[in-house]
Amino acid sequence: MEQKHEVVEGVHPLTHGDHADRSGGAPGSQGGAGDAAHAGHAGHAGDADDDAEAVRRPAGDRETSRANRGWWDRNADEYQNDHGEFLGDARFVWGPEGLDEAEAGLLGPAEQLRGLDVLEVGAGAAQCSRWLAAQGARPVALDLSHRQLQHALRIGGGDPGRPGFPLVEADARALPFADGSFDLACSAFGAVPFVADPERVFAEVARVLRPGGRWVFSLTHPLRWSLADEPGPEGLTVLASYFDRTPYVEEDGEGRTVYAEHHRTLGDRVRELVGAGFRLEDLVEPEWPEWNQQVWGGWSPLRGRLVPGTAVFVCTLA
Ligand SMILES: C[S@@+](CC[C@H](N)C(=O)[O-])C[C@H]1O[C@@H](n2cnc3c(N)ncnc32)[C@H](O)[C@@H]1O
Repeated sequence: MEQKHEVVEGVHPLTHGDHADRSGGAPGSQGGAGDAAHAGHAGHAGDADDDAEAVRRPAGDRETSRANRGWWDRNADEYQNDHGEFLGDARFVWGPEGLDEAEAGLLGPAEQLRGLDVLEVGAGAAQCSRWLAAQGARPVALDLSHRQLQHALRIGGGDPGRPGFPLVEADARALPFADGSFDLACSAFGAVPFVADPERVFAEVARVLRPGGRWVFSLTHPLRWSLADEPGPEGLTVLASYFDRTPYVEEDGEGRTVYAEHHRTLGDRVRELVGAGFRLEDLVEPEWPEWNQQVWGGWSPLRGRLVPGTAVFVCTLA
């Protein structure tokens, strides 16, 4: 695989011009958890869509991809500005708790990453891929958002001493790779919570992995969907049903979806993974460490010490 920085343009198979795919559910009132569902790493305060209204209502697959691509393009600058320092240019951080792959070893021993073909799904500015490359792996960083990948170029571009790797602009729901291209796939809060059809992402990851390949990804702990998304004590109150899978949607004044996140219970995730042919090896719920005093959206030391905020699924292709 060619080892240089490049954005492969025009690979947006599912996100061009599909404006018709509104799933049409009547906007519900904002679910009790409200912004709790707007989890991810995004953090929400002061983003470029400040006027958007948050609701819980259905959102279709293409509608979701299209909206999230736009949201991340509009908000990538702020996201990297707010969180880039914590993420580090070349670290692999699994979530706001700060669990670092260098210590966690969820991908396997770091010395065994050398020479592996690795796909990072929903890579953002490719900080994790940069760490993987430094371990001697051959990462490919894929993201839906052009602007996020431009940040990957910005971070990597100025330093010719750093190893390069491909950046691919595409939807995780239709990976533009041949079957059996990778030994390992990973995602730190990447595409999985941002798609309406995660079983399709899991099937795609299974397809592009080689037999026995590992798939490790993190997302907001499903429990958080039942709590208010506030870093303070109000974020410890159950306001919505954990079992309510209605998506969290932000819509503009015309009712158009400008952002969507999709909730599944822990059991749902296990069934989706097994259905795609994976064996679940571990489910890691990072505890909040003493050193971490940052508040990131609804993540905070106060809540982090009491309830899990992130779930990391460690799987192998059965
Ligand atoms: C919370 S960020 C995580 C990025 C990076 N891993 C990090 O920790 O900063 C989520 C990323 O997922 C990407 N994303 C969302 N939906 C996607 C999809 N359907 N396919 C590929 N990437 C997607 C977004 O563009 C965004 O860069």
